[in-house]
Amino acid sequence: METLLSPDSFVYNNVILVKGAMTMLSKRLEKALNDQIVRELESAYVYLSMCAYFEAQNLRGMAHWMRLQAQEELKHAMKIFDFVNDRGGRVELGPIAKPPVEFKSPLDAFQKALAHEQKITQSIHDLYDLADDEDDYPTEVMLQWFIEEQVEEEKSASEVVEQLKLVGENGAGLMILDQKLGQREAESS
Ligand code: FEO
Repeated sequence: METLLSPDSFVYNNVILVKGAMTMLSKRLEKALNDQIVRELESAYVYLSMCAYFEAQNLRGMAHWMRLQAQEELKHAMKIFDFVNDRGGRVELGPIAKPPVEFKSPLDAFQKALAHEQKITQSIHDLYDLADDEDDYPTEVMLQWFIEEQVEEEKSASEVVEQLKLVGENGAGLMILDQKLGQREAESS
């Protein structure tokens, strides 16, 4: 059955949240969410730089994988961007650091991608702790999606790291892995 939402309602994780029924974001939480928007945009920047590295190495499959990853990070940033607005907060964007340009090897790039995701996971957990401290339930619900997403993000980067370790110096193996990573499809949401 179709559910009709009033203009003041929106859905997060199958839960209907009503804007008017929510308290405003605290300034502390608003600042932390704004910082997370910047981190997600920074992630997109890091992966775009890795995409450029793989393009330069003629590893087009890995470049494709990184390009899709960059696009996903933009969607992550926009999810939080929209949430802050929906809660009557003010989005304030900060500067994005220059990403690394060169990498020692494909393995080095994917190890850095994994380390980056582990850092992002920690920041999402810290954000959840803050929302929990403030009893801000809508933010907790919104962040549950990110908590699950981070499990996937770490898993997919970690799988490629392990596969690259197995491939080692084997050029043919690297080409096969590159081809496989080139088949990655964009997520639907
Ligand atoms: Fe949006 Fe890969 O963390």
